[in-house]
Amino acid sequence: MSADEIKSLDEFIPFLEAYPDYDLSTLPSWVADDIENAKVYGNKKRGVIMPDGQKYHLDNKLNDMNGRDWTFFINSVFSTHYPTRGKEGYAHEIRKIHPTPKPPQLMRDLICFFTKHGEIVFDSFMGVGGTLIGASLANRRALGIDLNPEYIDAYKRAASELNLGEQSTICGDCIEILERKKDIEEFLKEDKISLMLIDPPYGNMMSREKTGGDISVYGKNSTPFTESEKDLGNMDKDSFLAALKKSVELTLPFIKTRGYIVVFIKDLQPHKKDVNLLHADVINKLNEIRNLYYKGMKIWSDESTKLYPYGYPFCFVANQIHQYILVFRKEK
Ligand SMILES: C[S@@+](CC[C@H](N)C(=O)[O-])C[C@H]1O[C@@H](n2cnc3c(N)ncnc32)[C@H](O)[C@@H]1O
Repeated sequence: MSADEIKSLDEFIPFLEAYPDYDLSTLPSWVADDIENAKVYGNKKRGVIMPDGQKYHLDNKLNDMNGRDWTFFINSVFSTHYPTRGKEGYAHEIRKIHPTPKPPQLMRDLICFFTKHGEIVFDSFMGVGGTLIGASLANRRALGIDLNPEYIDAYKRAASELNLGEQSTICGDCIEILERKKDIEEFLKEDKISLMLIDPPYGNMMSREKTGGDISVYGKNSTPFTESEKDLGNMDKDSFLAALKKSVELTLPFIKTRGYIVVFIKDLQPHKKDVNLLHADVINKLNEIRNLYYKGMKIWSDESTKLYPYGYPFCFVANQIHQYILVFRKEK
């Protein structure tokens, strides 16, 4: 907004004059907290402008963002370098018992785009709780499931260390829990999930014997998340895709109309004639679900990933420092 436009703010109508009975609890806190100074603009008076020029739209049913942050978010690439120490490490020391913990800040930013304050986030593969901590940082409620009780315990210790309230967790196979429905219904009561945010195992990528630079990261032995046959990380590609589809399909009835499903995924390395574009396989598989539509992707480039001379000095092997963040929406 230009200086001239800001000068003309005086000409706009005060919010409380235009909407004396508006339910302020539905507004983002950055608007509600300074509502006396908020003004409305536009023919239909649906635009809200704050004294610092930030704008909010009263028809925004998706999130609490101003237009500037919205535009920044829809950039197709996230490039980050999150620290793993100190306050910004978000108890990484505790969470690092997991081989692939997600940075809570990254999950918070996704949650802030795909939900409003107070709404519900669900992660059926919660690990040590990157999503749950992200939800707490964003003031959202969350439910997480993981097969491995040690991961859930580490999440609880991390939440306590960070002085964050503990989100709800269930230990077990997410498919069985979703099929049974009871625990999910008890958590949700009359509510619905606004965002399913998951970072499933990438097929059997983690449980295969490691080669090259991965040996120094994980050791030579396989590092499955659990020994269970229900662990998606112990399945071959087709069974993995079928189980992932099932977990999403079973969650769909609990998700609100126009709610989102956001899935992290990484490609496997090409093998002979198999191109192994796992992210494309996941898009096609989940897009088979009735009423669920693929909407696009963001690429997360994790600049903190250590580089290894894979293939040196013989051939090209990509060091994948990026992951795909696939976005789907429930339409009806
Ligand atoms: C990539 S990790 C998720 C990491 C997580 N985003 C974090 O921040 O810690 C995938 C998780 O899925 C869990 N998992 C695999 N199969 C599962 C199943 N059938 N039900 C529930 N959890 C499962 C594994 O134990 C593992 O912790």
